[in-house]
Amino acid sequence: MVQAIRLAPRAHLFTRAASLLPRPRPRAPLQHAVAGDGKRHITAYGYTQAKALVYSKYGEPQDVLQLHGHSISAPSGTQVVVRFLTCPINPADVNQIQGVYPSKPEMDTALGTSEASAVAGNEGVAEVISTGSGVKSVQKGDWVIMKSTGMGTWCTHKALDESQVLKIDDKEGLTPLQVGTVSVNPCTAYRMLLDYGKWNFRGDEWFIQNGANSGVGRAAIQLGREWGIKSINIIRGREDKSEEEKLRRELYDLGATHVITEEELMGREMRDKVKEWTRGGREQIKVGLNCVGGKPGTALAKFLSSEASMITYGAMSKKPLELPASLLIFKNINFTGFWVSKWSDQHPDQKKQTVEDVLRLTKAGKFKDFPVQECEWNRDTGLDVLRSAVQGTLGGFRAGKGVFVFGET
Ligand SMILES: NC(=O)c1ccc[n+]([C@@H]2O[C@H](COP(=O)([O-])OP(=O)(O)OC[C@H]3O[C@@H](n4cnc5c(N)ncnc54)[C@H](OP(=O)(O)O)[C@@H]3O)[C@@H](O)[C@H]2O)c1
Repeated sequence: MVQAIRLAPRAHLFTRAASLLPRPRPRAPLQHAVAGDGKRHITAYGYTQAKALVYSKYGEPQDVLQLHGHSISAPSGTQVVVRFLTCPINPADVNQIQGVYPSKPEMDTALGTSEASAVAGNEGVAEVISTGSGVKSVQKGDWVIMKSTGMGTWCTHKALDESQVLKIDDKEGLTPLQVGTVSVNPCTAYRMLLDYGKWNFRGDEWFIQNGANSGVGRAAIQLGREWGIKSINIIRGREDKSEEEKLRRELYDLGATHVITEEELMGREMRDKVKEWTRGGREQIKVGLNCVGGKPGTALAKFLSSEASMITYGAMSKKPLELPASLLIFKNINFTGFWVSKWSDQHPDQKKQTVEDVLRLTKAGKFKDFPVQECEWNRDTGLDVLRSAVQGTLGGFRAGKGVFVFGET
């Protein structure tokens, strides 16, 4: 695949005709390989020139991602064309490219790629730049997020049906970063905490989590603080103790009640400390959020109160979670899992409400941005720059989550 495919006029027409064949998904505007000079984003014929990070086989991002140029025709009917503003690079996006994620994207040649391909990325915010005459729910200038994951968001522009997007009703006072990262991490934290804890919201209840400095973990801390739920937050220790202290401080500033390292969690004194924090166990630890698995996951489970729920949503250690039978038999702890993709598809109304509530807290200054490492994506940004922004995602000990920030596209 090449950055901008130059097609002979006949092949160009053929690509358009091929994409007219009936497709199972909602109809979107025609998209085909671009024949332009790659400099203007609207061609003389009214096509929007777009670029997308695509892959046609699974593997490491640096080996399989390609930058594909194509053009999008003016929308008709219920179609909309959007321009992306910000898209995060989440661990699941990389797992999907590697082919180790349970949901596999549909690969096809609809964008005029030489091989069946998928656009990478699952989250982001985009601005509507044009609409078909039948579009009712959004208009030019609106910000939208995707209703579902698996839509392929790492692109400059995209053609969609209006039914595939969720409009941000009041974007005033919000940044693209805040809106572009709201639907995966904050929604995951929000639903896991709220839906699995039998809370009385009297300020005397706890949750415990590992991966506490992750996007999900930071969201959970702030929601807990808002809802009066105290938290024990487990991070991985840093070799550089000043870095570790800085990280602890960041989480305390978000509202963490206690921040401990994995090492401290597994140390002898922790049982007594937790007893003291929870007033001899009278204040219950009702929820455990497990991002990591392996030994830190097992250790976390042992601190849960009877009848608590432990929700596994990640496996960052890549190690299985081992559980002592006593936690199931005598403490009757509910071990379960959560997947935001499935939840979004099954509960579209709840997703809208959850997004709106997090954005309400954000506007009120009660929900802080998590640290990010920005990768600017302009019209002339090269494949190497984009690939390397993706490649480091699973490395660990990062200063912030990678995000694509779109400039002049
Ligand atoms: N089930 C769902 O619906 C759902 C939704 C969102 C996210 N997730 C999952 O949740 C996890 C975190 O996602 P995120 O977007 O919040 O991540 P993120 O912001 O990119 O943060 C990654 C987190 O993983 C930790 N980590 C990295 N490598 C690790 C290792 N080898 N062992 C232990 N911890 C490690 C990092 O800690 P350090 O700073 O110490 O490296 C950091 O806390 C991922 O597995 C993701 O797929 C699941």
